[in-house]
Amino acid sequence: MKKPIAGIFSLALMGGFLLAESIDPPQNHINWMKSVAKANGMIKKGVDVETNAKGVAETFTKVGRFYKKRGLEVGVKTSNDAVTAANAIAKAAAASDQEGISAGMKALGGSCKGCHDVHREKISDTENKIKW
Ligand code: HEC
Repeated sequence: MKKPIAGIFSLALMGGFLLAESIDPPQNHINWMKSVAKANGMIKKGVDVETNAKGVAETFTKVGRFYKKRGLEVGVKTSNDAVTAANAIAKAAAASDQEGISAGMKALGGSCKGCHDVHREKISDTENKIKW
């Protein structure tokens, strides 16, 4: 599936993103999402909060680059917001600041939703696409 995806990327680039397209997410995108969802669950349970939050920040740095390369502003902004929120959670965890962790989680959740509302197309319970 590598070639068709690359083809669609270049088409979308050439087309100036005028067409709303839904494409199969590349495997690394799926892996990033799985990893942040897992870390999110661990943070909610209070497990290794600082380490998990730092991991989330790192992952969203990569996610942000993915969207930046494709000129997708909402994706870039929500990824940046997620990095900021995850760093705030890590900092709060290091200071055992429970309120700070909750506030950071709220902000992080907002960034997930902000991007999903625009760029995620749910095909079924197990299948998602990227919309742009
Ligand atoms: C910059 C955009 C963006 C942000 C921010 C974002 N997501 Fe996603 N997410 C997507 C897109 C697009 C899909 C559909 C494509 C895919 O599954 O990779 C998706 C799919 C998912 C999936 C389904 C993965 C699968 O198995 O296919 C999960 C779980 C998920 N996101 C969790 C999260 C969580 C939790 C957050 C916040 C901590 C988050 N996402 C933030 C864009 C984003």
